[in-house]
Amino acid sequence: MRYVVIGNPIAHSKSPQIHAAFAAQFGLSDFSYERLLAPLDGFAATARALFDGGAGGANVTVPFKEEAFAFADALSERAAAAGAVNTLIRHADDRIEGDNTDGAGLVADLLRHGELSGKRILLIGAGGAARGALLPLLVERPAMLLIANRTAARAEALLADIVQPWLRSTGLPVTAQPAHGAAAFDFLVGGVPVELKSAVPASAALGRDGVQFDVIINATSASLGGTGIPMHPDAFAPDALAYDMMYGRDETPFLRQAREAGAAQCVDGLGMLVGQAAEAFALWTGHRPDVEPVLAQLRAAL
Ligand code: ATR
Repeated sequence: MRYVVIGNPIAHSKSPQIHAAFAAQFGLSDFSYERLLAPLDGFAATARALFDGGAGGANVTVPFKEEAFAFADALSERAAAAGAVNTLIRHADDRIEGDNTDGAGLVADLLRHGELSGKRILLIGAGGAARGALLPLLVERPAMLLIANRTAARAEALLADIVQPWLRSTGLPVTAQPAHGAAAFDFLVGGVPVELKSAVPASAALGRDGVQFDVIINATSASLGGTGIPMHPDAFAPDALAYDMMYGRDETPFLRQAREAGAAQCVDGLGMLVGQAAEAFALWTGHRPDVEPVLAQLRAAL
C-alpha cells in the first residue's frame, strides 16, 4: 500500500526514513512511503489524485494542515478540536478521514520522561502546534494548565473558537469566568483548571508571581528565530521537564534557557516527530511500532 507525506517544501522531511524503519519492524514489504511535493495552490488536487490512484493514506505537513482539514470527508474528534489535520486515512468505503496525531505524539514523548497526571503544565504559544496539543494534554488530567501567548487574542481564540465547542459536544463541563481583566480568563475544563495569559507586554512576569510549573512546553516558533521565551527562571520547578517542540543538532534557545533556569530535564521535539509518525502508522497498519530504536537512529544522524 502506498503512503506519502505531502508538504511544500518537503525535501527535508524525515518521515520516509521513520516509516521505513517502522515497516521493517513488522516485515511489511508492501508498505511504501514517499515524499510528495504539492504546489502551494494545489493541495486538494494533489491529494485527490493521490487517493484516486489508490493510496492508503498520507501525512500532511506545512503549510497544508488546514487545507487537509477542509479536504477530509470526516474528522476525528482530536482533528476537529485541533482545527488541523496531519494524517489522512482512506477507509474501505473510500471515504477519507482526517486525523491529527501531533498532540498524541507529544504526549507519548512527554510520558517517556515522566508523569503528566497531577502536574502543573505551562503551554507556551497559541498557534497550530499549541492547538493540537491542548486536548491530548488535558486528557492526561494535569493539576492545571496555563496557556501563555505573546498575543492574548490568539490564546483566547484557541479556547473560545475551537476547544470550547468541542468540549460542549462531548459533555465535559466547561465554565469560564473573567479572572485577570480583559486579557486573561480562567476556565475549568473537565475539572482541570485552564488559565490563559497574555505574555505581552510583560512576558517576563511568567513565574514572577511565584507559580512554578512541572512541565513547560514551548509550542511557539520562537526557536526558529533564534530566541528563547522571555520568562522568569522561577517558573521552572526544580524537577521541571522543559520540552521544546523544535529540535536540531544544537540545543534550542528555549532549552538552553530552561537548563540555565535549573530544569531537571530538557527535551527537544525529535521524539514528538517520531511519536506522531508512530500514531499515524498504527492507524494505517494496525501495528504499533517501537519508537526507541528509530529515535536513536534519527538522533545519531542529526
Ligand atoms: P505553528 O503552526 O508552528 O504553531 P503558528 O500558528 O504561526 O505556527 O504559531 C506560532 C506561535 O509562535 C504563536 O503562538 C506565536 O505567537 P503570536 O500568536 O503572538 O504570534 C508564537 N511566536 C512566534 N515567534 C515568537 C517569539 N519570538 N516569541 C514568542 N512567541 C512567538
